[in-house]
Parts: sequence; C-alpha cells; structure tokens
Amino acid sequence: MTTAAENEILTRVGPGTPMGGLMRQYWIPAAASTEFEVDGDPVRLKLLGEELIGFRDSNGKVGIMDHRCPHRCASLFFGRNEEGGIRCVYHGWKFDADGNCLDMANVPPHQDFKHKVHAKAYKTAERNGLVWVFMGDQKNIPELPPIEATLAPPDRMNVNFQYRECNWLQAVEGELDTSHVGFLHFGSVDANAFTESHSRNTVNNRAPEYVTAETDYGFMYGAHRPAEEGGIYWRVAHFLFPCWTMPPLAPLGVDVAVRAYVPMDDENTMMLIMLHKGARTENHVALREDISGGPDFNYAPPPTDRANTGWYDRWRLKENKDNDYLIDRELQRGHNYTGLRGLILQDQMITESMEPIVDRSIEVLAPTDIAITQMRRAVLRAAKNYAKDGTLPASAQNPDLFKGARGGHFFADKDANWLDTYHRIMAESAYTPETAQAAE
Ligand code: FES
Ligand SMILES: [Fe+2]
Repeated sequence: MTTAAENEILTRVGPGTPMGGLMRQYWIPAAASTEFEVDGDPVRLKLLGEELIGFRDSNGKVGIMDHRCPHRCASLFFGRNEEGGIRCVYHGWKFDADGNCLDMANVPPHQDFKHKVHAKAYKTAERNGLVWVFMGDQKNIPELPPIEATLAPPDRMNVNFQYRECNWLQAVEGELDTSHVGFLHFGSVDANAFTESHSRNTVNNRAPEYVTAETDYGFMYGAHRPAEEGGIYWRVAHFLFPCWTMPPLAPLGVDVAVRAYVPMDDENTMMLIMLHKGARTENHVALREDISGGPDFNYAPPPTDRANTGWYDRWRLKENKDNDYLIDRELQRGHNYTGLRGLILQDQMITESMEPIVDRSIEVLAPTDIAITQMRRAVLRAAKNYAKDGTLPASAQNPDLFKGARGGHFFADKDANWLDTYHRIMAESAYTPETAQAAE
C-alpha cells in the first residue's frame, strides 16, 4: 500500500521537493522543435512547476528561462524576440538564450551593470526534432540520454505530444498496467477480429500474470499468458528514470518507441509519444482503427494553429475533460468499450478521471498491479535517497545505461527464461534507428 505521505513524495515535482529534485538531475523533453521559430513568438512552458518561456533566437538557438524578467518581474512572454535575444517591453532590458543581459536600455551608460545580471535560464539541447532542457545544477550536466527512439531520423518517426490534466505518475502507471488493454481498448472486441496473433492473444486471455526486474535505468516487467499457438506470449515494458516508458506496441524486434510523461506541475503533464513508422504495418493500423472505432492518436492542433497561448494550451485536444472527451454512448453500446474514438484518448480519459492526483492510500491493488507497485517502490527509494544525501540512480550520471532498452511482445517456449529470450531477440535484432528503414 502507498501511504498518503509516500504519495506526496511521489507526486510533488516543484523546486525543493524530493521528486522534483530527482527529476531535475535528468534531461527532460521540453517541446517539439516546431514550437519555436527563429525570431518567432515566445512560448509559455510550464515544466516541473516552474513558469518559463521558450524562444528561438536569430541564430536558431533555443532559450528556456524563467518567464519573469530579472528587473521587476514583468513577463518576458510579452517580450520582443529580436536580434539575438528577448527584450522585455517594460524597460527594454534584453537577454540572450543563455540568460546573459545584453542591454539595460533604461539605465544611463555610466550606471549600467548588465554584466552582473542574468535571467534564470536553463541549458537546452536539440536533437532530431526534440528540444530538451536540464533544470538541475547548471554546472554539472550529463550527456543527453541515448534513448533509442530519440536517436532515429525524425522522418522515420511518428512524434506526437498530448496534454494531460493529471499528475505525471498516474499517467506513467497506465503504461505499466497491461491488463487494461483487453478492457479499456478492446473490451467489446471478439479476439477473432484480429488477423495477427499478438492482439488476438491479448484479447483471448485478458488476465495475464507478471514478472518484474529492476534495471540500471529503472524497471521492467513481462506480462505473460499461454499463447494460442503453444508456448508463452510475452509483453515486456520498461520504466526509465525519470519519467519515460517503453510499452509493448509491436514485436520486440521492431518496436522502436518511447513515451515520456513530463510533469508540467503537480496536476498537469505533457505526454510525448514516439513510434517508429516501420513498427506497425499499414494493415495493422487500419485494422486497429476499424476495431477500436478511432485512431491510435488524436492530434492536437500544430503549434502554428494554436488558438490560445496559456500555460495549459499546448497540445490540448479538442476532445478533453471539459466535454467528456466527446463520448459517444451509441458507439459504446457497440464494439467500442468506452465510446471514445482514439486509443490514447481512452487512456487520457481514464487516468484523468482518477482526479488530478489519485489518492493511492485508498486503492485496492491486485496481483496484476505488481508492475505498478514495484515501479513506485523504485521511484520512491530513488527520491528519498536523493533527498537524504544527494545519492542518485546510476543512470543520472551515466546516460549510456539507457542503451539496450526496448518494449515489445514476443513468443517464447514454455520453459524459456523471459529475460534470456528478451536479450536474445534484442541481440539478434538488426532493427536499430540507423537500419530501421532497411528492416521494413
Ligand atoms: S521588468 Fe523587464 S525591463 Fe523592467
Ligand atoms: Fe492504454
């Protein structure tokens, strides 16, 4: 059981909290590269409880900093992004992407002290269409993590962001809860509707058993059930510090995918979804859409078409909490279990319905929740250790430990060890971000 006090530690992410401190020791994805145009409009970003702005300067460099001007705290969101920096419109002070004050326009030259003034800017990086930010100690910054899907050429990836109106952890827990697939997503579907055996096995037997293992980068589990063709059908997923998951979306050999649940604050989350275009065949996608009554992903308007610019307006779907996700009760009476069109939207509805921060002290957990309880335990231990004496998981300082993780499903002999099989398939897989195109 998770106590109310433990729940506080797990879910609070602001500055000075144990979990917020731990999160800040890792690079986190902040935005899509397409959200910032050279000399374009500043964007409000809320990350780990901090209100920030992001902008791209005249040289293409992305700056992410406290939205409050260091002078008298006017919001730089209203600033002018011009000639290598952002200029506050209150008194004309100007800052570059690293936070250096370039101009103190309202101060006479002999009283100028711009070299002593710095906006609170965080280190940023950009790779393959993602903007990353490091919000911890700016003097001790590790390399970007080599998470497989983030290394793939961007034109080979489907990348999608979605806003979630709930705490980051319950969104992550939805990914470690594989038994919901046979209900939330396919509860009214006859197994024979699927032409491929992976989905058919998931729906044929909706009550899997689990095994778990801690890893250098976090945690992994395997859900298993007898396969219809004999042997065992395995679905393996990972949690990677501090807020990444790799769910089983496709056969292990080709499942180059990752998701991140980046806390905006304690009650709001930005989900990043990356899936290699070759991981699923067109037929598979079309079949799933037909069966589920909607697409896997519902797309939020692109950055250039956003109607609003508030802290919570990025990647917001037209189907959301305020309109009951446009639930179609007629559809729900048919073969769509939820009446919602879209698999990820179904996940969103159910995780947001638990309240912004689920009260874990009143849950009644079952053996099928073991992946969730084990992950919580690992995260709680890491947050407490960091708060106690600054001890970090090895992955914080050694991002190479993220290599070699991939979610996915596979078949194995009845007596085969699941981890041995996992590692064998990974070793045999020629499907890397670099070779993925040839493997399709
Ligand atoms: S508050 Fe920004 S320049 Fe004065
Ligand atoms: Fe789901």
